Amino acid sequence: MTTETRTHTTSTTDTRTPSAGPSAAPPNGRTPTAASTHDGPVPTGQDYPPRFALIGGGQVEAALRGRAAEVLDLVEETYRVHGGGDTVNPPSYFLRFPDRPLSRIIALPASLGGRFGVDGLKWVSSFPGNIEYGLPRASALLLLNDHDTGYPFACLEGSIISATRTAASAALGADRLSRGRPRPRRVGFVGAGLIARYIHTYLAATGWEFDEVGIYDPDPDSAHGLAGSLTRSSQTPVVVHDDIESVIRGSDLVVFATVAARPHVTDESWFDHHPVVLHVSLRDLTPEILLGAVNVVDDVDHCLKADTSPHLVEQLTGSRDFIAGTLDDVMAGRAEIPPDRTVVFSPFGLGVLDLAVGLFVYEAVARAGELNVVDGFFHDLARHG
Ligand SMILES: NC(=O)c1ccc[n+]([C@@H]2O[C@H](COP(=O)([O-])OP(=O)(O)OC[C@H]3O[C@@H](n4cnc5c(N)ncnc54)[C@H](O)[C@@H]3O)[C@@H](O)[C@H]2O)c1
Repeated sequence: MTTETRTHTTSTTDTRTPSAGPSAAPPNGRTPTAASTHDGPVPTGQDYPPRFALIGGGQVEAALRGRAAEVLDLVEETYRVHGGGDTVNPPSYFLRFPDRPLSRIIALPASLGGRFGVDGLKWVSSFPGNIEYGLPRASALLLLNDHDTGYPFACLEGSIISATRTAASAALGADRLSRGRPRPRRVGFVGAGLIARYIHTYLAATGWEFDEVGIYDPDPDSAHGLAGSLTRSSQTPVVVHDDIESVIRGSDLVVFATVAARPHVTDESWFDHHPVVLHVSLRDLTPEILLGAVNVVDDVDHCLKADTSPHLVEQLTGSRDFIAGTLDDVMAGRAEIPPDRTVVFSPFGLGVLDLAVGLFVYEAVARAGELNVVDGFFHDLARHG
């Protein structure tokens, strides 16, 4: 970008040097479409020389605070862009370790078209043992690359963005999949970690009101930790259950956010009341339970991988016919959700969602004049010296 669009420079952390001016700009000619969608144009990394910003978790959290409705719209729009084919979202790459079989680091490269025009990579670790010494299970970085030059223009703390887009996707799913039935009033969380907290926050912030919140977690500290947090933040009664059956039977919206590696919920009769199920952790339900339900995913190819429960169904039946459609299909009216059947939403989690939310954060920080630009990050840019 060759023009400075900020009207104020309140930050002491923006250390960038002035742009080299229009004649030095790379010949991409792109108008900053992504940046123009909110409160006005802001830089999206098209300066020459290219600049590179670091955005820490505090800035990410501040940029997303109070913006749940916008983020939900953003996630919905991103699903539409993805459903329309204007994305590249290759399979995630799972780095696993023979000496640490429970842990993994996943690379999610992606390219998001539409009005966004941004590429990038989420690099997210899952180390479940972390919670024993007081650290969240997941940590992540998100890199954003310029659409026209390929230069990375920002590295963001990624775990808050990842949790936020997951929660927004879950809240969107809850809304869209329950439209033909009475709005659920009792939500139950199976698994009481960070993702459960974010999903509750997103449900509450996007208008959901509950008569009761149920929680089950085999780890009492986690169950009571989430219960305490929810009790402090709302008036809704919170009940900690001793078993999964009672929290499922007692809820018309059920959220799975465990770290189960294989199905542990086997009894189809627990779903006789036909709840809406947000199967965010993907591996909790047996194939038989999915076969008795209406199944919605975010992306069919992605979700039928890595031994998720839907993948196990495909392995069992040799068919993908059990999938009713994607959430985008539901939003567009191409897939119908019967009101009198259990519906299970299994979102694999798409890298394009991280890009959309990451760009939203980048733009907010840039607008506030608070980008921490690493001076001279890209160096030796003259090809022939
Ligand atoms: N689909 C997506 O887009 C997406 C995105 C982010 C995270 N996730 C998944 O969400 C899940 C939760 O993530 P988190 O960061 O909250 O993890 P976390 O470690 O903070 O919490 C997980 C909780 O699940 C509990 N648990 C384990 N086995 C259980 C069982 N059988 N029944 C009930 N609870 C059980 C654990 O005790 C723990 O408290 C993970 O599986 C993660 O991979 C999915």
